[in-house]
Amino acid sequence: MNCCYSSISSLIFIILIFHLISISSLAYPVDQDVDHQHGPSTDQDLSSTMGYSPNSSEDDSIAITTIVPPENEMLGSEEWPSSSYYHRRCPNKSVEQIIYRKVKEWVDKDYTIAPSLLRLHFHDCAVRGCDASILLDCEESERRADVSKTLRAFEVIDDIKTEIEKECPKTVSCADILTAAARDATVLLGAKYWTVPFGRKDGRVSIAKEADAIVPRGHENTTTLLELFQSMGLDVSDLVILEGAHTIGRSSCREVQKRIYDHKGSGKPDGSIKKEYLNYLQRKCRWESEYVELDEETPWKFDTMYYKNLVNNMGLLSTDQLLISDSRTKPIAKALASIPTSLYAHIFGASMTKLGSVGVLAGKDEGEIRTNCNFVNSYDY
Ligand code: HEM
Repeated sequence: MNCCYSSISSLIFIILIFHLISISSLAYPVDQDVDHQHGPSTDQDLSSTMGYSPNSSEDDSIAITTIVPPENEMLGSEEWPSSSYYHRRCPNKSVEQIIYRKVKEWVDKDYTIAPSLLRLHFHDCAVRGCDASILLDCEESERRADVSKTLRAFEVIDDIKTEIEKECPKTVSCADILTAAARDATVLLGAKYWTVPFGRKDGRVSIAKEADAIVPRGHENTTTLLELFQSMGLDVSDLVILEGAHTIGRSSCREVQKRIYDHKGSGKPDGSIKKEYLNYLQRKCRWESEYVELDEETPWKFDTMYYKNLVNNMGLLSTDQLLISDSRTKPIAKALASIPTSLYAHIFGASMTKLGSVGVLAGKDEGEIRTNCNFVNSYDY
């Protein structure tokens, strides 16, 4: 029985890797790579801070041969998605360089801000697409939702926006800034650089109730998460790959207390948690207001430890741990636990590109370029 299971799982593993590599090929069209003139800071910067080299042989190990339609045919809009979108619109200074420099300044001061930027981007895209609706700061906006209470890093986006407005006023959307800042922050903790296409517009609608209804909190079952991802045009692989974002950052104890003290109203902890880990969590999470790392082993390093933890019954959120027991996600999670971080980072970047394309407002009459990310514009131009 075991033997049969293991040969089936190796087969699934091989099929999965082919599948994952083909996803990543699609997200990296041959003609749309790092722009060395306007690109995301200099390669020098990236390689020195993150050990990343765009020409490294590690990248070459993945064949990128898929022929994809030109950028502007992919989603039917005239301008979106385009990696050179701001080259003409903001020619004197590279928008991506400004974003990278600012994100680095903030992360150098406080590295815990990096995962917060990544999470902010996910929350943005999950509700009404990647339109910066999460940044709007008014009564009953997404930002004021209960599920948004522990979101951080809004001030990073404001800081970047202020700087960019000085260079190129009314040109760069908050949605594009947030997407690129999330990428840069993740890369600073060890992820591999991925191309962010630009051309998103900012939305004018943001409703707290929608965020509370849609954004998952860690108590959902896998079907609910799969349905959410499906509604965003993402598939089961994207779900498992992107939840790996929990290899960095932390959670408030509020989200895990039920699981470690009173699972499903049983008065007992969730029996799937490894005993030593449970003891650790119970010591760490005496109060709701405290924090605990999502990946206890290497919380501030982007790697595959998240998946290894799941195999060892050390997933923090029950949604994390369920990935390794649900038959739809288990083969993928197990495969990701056993591949090198460099390959995982590549696959992660591909799924992030898909996430960053969800529900983008790019049509002629859609959205606007906010001048202040916290408020919709009060005028038309
Ligand atoms: C799909 C199911 C997901 C669930 C159920 C989930 C749930 C959560 C929860 C409960 C927290 C802690 C919140 C708190 O402190 O109150 C958290 C943190 C975090 N999430 Fe997720 N999340 C999911 C997907 C994602 C995705 C797709 C990403 C990014 C691509 C992401 C990135 C993060 C990061 C980086 C943190 C740490 C934030 C920090 O340290 O400030 N999550 N998530």
